[in-house]
Amino acid sequence: MNTSLTEESPALTSAREQNTSEIVAKNIYKSYGAGPFAKEVVSDCSFTIESNKLTVMIGPSGCGKSTLIQLIAGFEATDSGEITLNGSPITDPGKDRLVLFQESALFPWMTTYDNIMYGPRARGEDTKDAADQAEFLLNKVGLDAFRDKYPQQLSGGMQRRAELARAMINKPEVMILDEPFRGLDNMSKELMWEYYAGLYEEDRNTNFFVTTDIDEAIFLADRLLIMTNLPTSTRSVIEIDIPRPRTIEEVVNSARANEIKKEVMTLLHEEAMKSFSGGSKAAADFLDAYSKRAD
Ligand SMILES: Nc1ncnc2c1ncn2[C@@H]1O[C@H](COP(=O)(O)OP(=O)(O)O)[C@@H](O)[C@H]1O
Ligand SMILES: [Mg+2]
Repeated sequence: MNTSLTEESPALTSAREQNTSEIVAKNIYKSYGAGPFAKEVVSDCSFTIESNKLTVMIGPSGCGKSTLIQLIAGFEATDSGEITLNGSPITDPGKDRLVLFQESALFPWMTTYDNIMYGPRARGEDTKDAADQAEFLLNKVGLDAFRDKYPQQLSGGMQRRAELARAMINKPEVMILDEPFRGLDNMSKELMWEYYAGLYEEDRNTNFFVTTDIDEAIFLADRLLIMTNLPTSTRSVIEIDIPRPRTIEEVVNSARANEIKKEVMTLLHEEAMKSFSGGSKAAADFLDAYSKRAD
C-alpha cells in the first residue's frame, strides 16, 4: 500500500475534530401507493447510525434500503415514526447529509481536479485550504496522474474514486452511500474498499453505507445492520470488532470475520427464504449462491 496513505493534511486533521452526528430512526413506517394498491416497504423499523462510525446496512435486494436512504436524506417523509439528526427531526434535505448514489456522475466537461473542486467552488470557497484538500484527496484515491483527464478518459473504478473524492471534500456531517460500488468487477471493487476505508479512517465522520455484498459489508463496517425482507425492519446488529486499518488479506484470513460472515449468511438466508416463497428472483439467485458457497 502507498505510504502516502498514512500522511494527513492539516486541513483534514482539523476536520477530524469537527463533528459528532448521530441519526436515530424510531419505529418508522413507509408505504408507497394508496388504498388497495398500497405497498408497505418499511415496517416498524428502528436503528441508530452512531456518531463517528461507519455503519453498514445489508439486506436482500428490494427489501427497502434505498427507501430508508430517501427518508434519512429527507427526500421522502415517513408515514409514521421519526428520524432525527442530533435530536432534531429530519423533515427536508440538508447539506449536513450528502448522498452518493451508484448513479452519481462526474461532470463530463470538467477534469478530475475541477470535478473534485466543484463543491467548494459552488459555495464560493475556492480557497488555498480547499485546493490543499483537493490535492490530498487526489493522492488518497490514487488519481494524481489523472488530475487533468476528463471522466470519459478514466476507467469505471477511477470514476468512482473521483466521485468519492468529490463528495468527501464537502465534509458532510453524515456521508450516505447507496451501493456505490455495485457493478464494478471484483478487483476494482476490492480496491475501492481500501480507498474508501482509507478516506473514512482519515476523518471518521459519520458514514452510512448500504450494500447487498457481505464481504464488502464486513470489510468496511464498524457496525452492521442486517435488515429483514420487505417490508423491512432491523433484524440484527453486529459490532465488527476487527481492528483498523484493515487489509483485504487480513480480513479474508481472519477467524472473526469468517465467524461474522457465517452469522450474516444465516440471517440473510432466512430472509431470502421468506421472499423466495414470495417469488423473488433476487432471492432465488441468493439461495443459488448460498448453496454453492465454500465454508
Ligand atoms: N417511489 C416508489 N413508488 C413505489 N414503489 C417504490 C418506490 N420506491 C421503491 N418502491 C418499492 O419499494 C420496494 C423497496 O425498494 P428499494 O427501497 O429500492 O429496495 P432496495 O434498495 O433494498 O433494493 C420495492 O418493491 C420497490 O419497488
Ligand atoms: Mg437500493
